[in-house]
Amino acid sequence: MRVAMIGTGYVGLVSGACFADFGHDVACIDKDAGKIERLQRGEIPIFEPGLDALVAENVEAGRLSFSTDLSSAVPEADAVFIAVGTPSRRGDGFADLSYVYAAAEEIAAALDGYTVIVTKSTVPVGTGAEVEAIIRRARPDADFSVVSNPEFLREGAAIEDFKRPDRVVVGTEDDRAREIMREIYRPLYLNETPIVFTNRMTSELIKYAANAFLATKITFINEMADICERVGANVQEVARGIGLDRRIGGKFLHAGPGYGGSCFPKDTLALVKTAEKAGAPTRIVEAVVDVNDRRKKSMASRVIAACGGVVEGKTIAVLGLTFKPNTDDMREAPSLDIIPALQKAGARVRAFDPAGMKEAAKLLDGVEFCKGVYETLDGADAVTIITEWDEFRAIDLERLKGLMRSPVMIDLRNIYRPAYMAAHGVKYHSIGRADSSFAAE
Ligand code: UDX
Repeated sequence: MRVAMIGTGYVGLVSGACFADFGHDVACIDKDAGKIERLQRGEIPIFEPGLDALVAENVEAGRLSFSTDLSSAVPEADAVFIAVGTPSRRGDGFADLSYVYAAAEEIAAALDGYTVIVTKSTVPVGTGAEVEAIIRRARPDADFSVVSNPEFLREGAAIEDFKRPDRVVVGTEDDRAREIMREIYRPLYLNETPIVFTNRMTSELIKYAANAFLATKITFINEMADICERVGANVQEVARGIGLDRRIGGKFLHAGPGYGGSCFPKDTLALVKTAEKAGAPTRIVEAVVDVNDRRKKSMASRVIAACGGVVEGKTIAVLGLTFKPNTDDMREAPSLDIIPALQKAGARVRAFDPAGMKEAAKLLDGVEFCKGVYETLDGADAVTIITEWDEFRAIDLERLKGLMRSPVMIDLRNIYRPAYMAAHGVKYHSIGRADSSFAAE
């Protein structure tokens, strides 16, 4: 199959590289000429384990190319994927679809022969119909179908998620389009991935429903963690105890500082707006958005409490800045709420992140960025772990005690056992574990 992928952001680049690896002929298109030049030189603009090798192999094999020229790629393609950004619109929280619609206009102008146009970006219910109308207006003669095919990959595990998904969702009622989509995903049949064929509206809603459900799961366990702290229970055991019920499932039940990232915050908000507009407001998702926002804002107070209620003039070491490990993505990261709040309370902040510091430096003022864990700990009155990078999991505690002014750790990801920390003389605070709780202070 010949595939044109419009947009070389996270989803576009990973999907393009993986489709090429399936054996398809893929042209990745982006308006940003600088980005395309860098990609042509083999420079990958995002941090994603394994992606540089996958791109290099497929470019080498002649199956993957990068260009700014949409008008030559589209006429050749069996399927054109729209994978451009859909940020939250400032002011009202609706998804901003201007990039999607602009892509639709350009694709329309270049169509030649039957083509499947696929929305892979996360787009609100009804966008497929609008894309179809735009193309139809521009090219009443064109032979095409508009299909919804949402992407569920996670940053940091994107290639694995793309190649071994739990399911693929395809929204179309057109038989020709269904056959082309079946052909594109044929390599997944080998590992028996279920392909859910449904109508376009349903497919669009599935993506939002999935993200909102996962965000709800996280928010639910975070609230359970708060209860655990008050009553003397352990949230990890609650998560395990409920997660073993297969109707609930154990995943996405890690309590923490609140979810961030490029998808959950944006998509939950967009779903709330869509639901309102449809006259079917979703009170659950509204609450999730609100509880998660408050949670991220309240995390700094835990650090302050662990420092005896005052951080004025103190130095706080921060380990982990990105919204989760194995990415350099800082979008909606809890650190962006926590660090300014600590600074406002008078703390000096030193920080280290294995991949996110370059991006973080653009977003945070007055932070002293350090070279590694131990440099960050040097002279600190307390250390807080905000992101659970693997390299924070085995800190040499004797060295930590030697470096810090006082060995106080606020672990917002529960990566250590309270008993272990107590045995090593570290004053340890974590999330939803009564034996180290804030409530017990
Ligand atoms: C998410 C969805 O998982 C993916 O299917 C969708 O396509 C895009 O959005 P991503 O944002 O890359 O992927 O990261 P994910 O691993 O889902 O984590 C999102 C946030 O939730 C992170 O801030 C993470 O720390 C937090 N999280 C996740 C928890 O706090 N607890 C958990 O148990 C799981």
